[in-house]
Amino acid sequence: VASADDKMFVGSIDQGTTSTRFLIFDKKGEPIAIHQEEFSQIYPNPGWHEHDPDEIIETIESCIEGAIRQFEKDGHFRESIRCIGVTNQRETTVLWDKTTGEALYNAIVWTDTRTAGLAKELKARPGSEKLQGICGEAISSYPSVTKVLWMLKNVDKVRKVYEAGNLAFGTIDTWIMYKLNGGLEKNVFVSDQTNASRTMFMDIRSLKYSDEMLDFFSYEYDMRKIAFPEIVRSADIKAFGQIRSGPLAGKPITGCLGDQSAALVGQKGFDPGAAKNTYGTGCFLLYNTGKEPVFSQHGLLTTVAYNFDGSPVYALEGSIAVAGSGVKFLMHNMGFSHASHKITELAETVQDNGGLVFVTAFSGLFAPYWIDDTQGTMFGITQHTERGHIARATLEAVCFQTKAILDAMEQDSGKKLAELKVDGGMSNSALAMQTQADLVQIPIVRPRMRETTALGAAIAAGFASDVWKDFEELKDVNTSGQTVFEPKMHLEDSRKMLKKWEKAVAMCKGWTA
Ligand code: G3P
Repeated sequence: VASADDKMFVGSIDQGTTSTRFLIFDKKGEPIAIHQEEFSQIYPNPGWHEHDPDEIIETIESCIEGAIRQFEKDGHFRESIRCIGVTNQRETTVLWDKTTGEALYNAIVWTDTRTAGLAKELKARPGSEKLQGICGEAISSYPSVTKVLWMLKNVDKVRKVYEAGNLAFGTIDTWIMYKLNGGLEKNVFVSDQTNASRTMFMDIRSLKYSDEMLDFFSYEYDMRKIAFPEIVRSADIKAFGQIRSGPLAGKPITGCLGDQSAALVGQKGFDPGAAKNTYGTGCFLLYNTGKEPVFSQHGLLTTVAYNFDGSPVYALEGSIAVAGSGVKFLMHNMGFSHASHKITELAETVQDNGGLVFVTAFSGLFAPYWIDDTQGTMFGITQHTERGHIARATLEAVCFQTKAILDAMEQDSGKKLAELKVDGGMSNSALAMQTQADLVQIPIVRPRMRETTALGAAIAAGFASDVWKDFEELKDVNTSGQTVFEPKMHLEDSRKMLKKWEKAVAMCKGWTA
């Protein structure tokens, strides 16, 4: 017998670094319809990475249309979609004119390293060492703030609008909400706490803009002259407004999470001590630390994991800049193959890495090392080296960094993780996941349904809209059919591999200094 629950669905916009998706989930957390589109990756100079903010919105609109088409073809009705969740690439920064709603420059993407020099200067300023204890992040080219400072200094249009007092700042969640609500007309100007915690503007404890941070960064341009979005919780029936046009016109947006927080929620990492690792464009390990922020002594960031009911849950985060983008580099730049699964197949043609270590530091090296002055570097190339070794070393680079992050997390938390939940594109590679288990020496648990990021945003929206009332109601969501990768490699061999990796990391420092 069909129940009302069978007819209740939640839409989820998943705006990632290289593609946009729209998914429709049923109450059991199963994706019923999905549409995905890639969009332009703009690399104007080495180390620069931009997106066209308007193209991002266009892909969202056409993904919604594509998924609705499929949904209705399968006999469902758009009216049964109760609410929409949004999840997005974090840190990526858009500046626009609040009197016209027009973006003033391309979005500067989180991976972009043009501000590495600026970050170095900022770190040398008095008081910089206190910042991480306030906002959870350390100065680098990664958070939004240096991208804002760069645009103010280098883009005339941005400076003029700033001088006129009309400059608006947003991360991608803010831009999406603003535009989908109809831009200027409704002027919905909000950011959820998980996204705001990636800017360096927010006090991670009070969840409000921090005077100390605004003062520190106002040495040349007054940060208080910029309009910042109102910071709101991740599930809210009113704050995010509603979709103004297209097939879902009138549907409320009731949840929003940065994509890594969303993946933690989609993996149901609700208890302190739960952790997940998402192998997307980059790779991000989040470890739930509960109601209090924990500040790392070992190169990790402190971030808001989610806030559904007014009380925030925090996470320690290990951020790796290059994961899927390393695979794409082999495919598109090196011409290794046209499909990502072929990179795993190539890696399987060799027994091991043949002594090759690839430090995939295209954006410098993020956690736990935070080395700005380096670039991608390969060590150990010989006449014996084949494409298979390079493919293998590319996958291994993510696994090595994950191991270093886990060690840092254990040191910060004083606890050893029993298992690591994984998701994201590269988790499809059994070779990569087995290598991961071998290197971290704990089981790697991969769910059957790996759309965890989109599911997390749907859960946030569904909580605000009473689709699910509590965590208990989610207990059967995304539990069946998981694969467990047990460590097989001898501990000594795994340690030997790691030692080589650490040596390579040490040797690549200072390359661009
Ligand atoms: O911090 C950047 C992150 O949010 C990007 O995620 O999935 O596009 O690698 P992803």
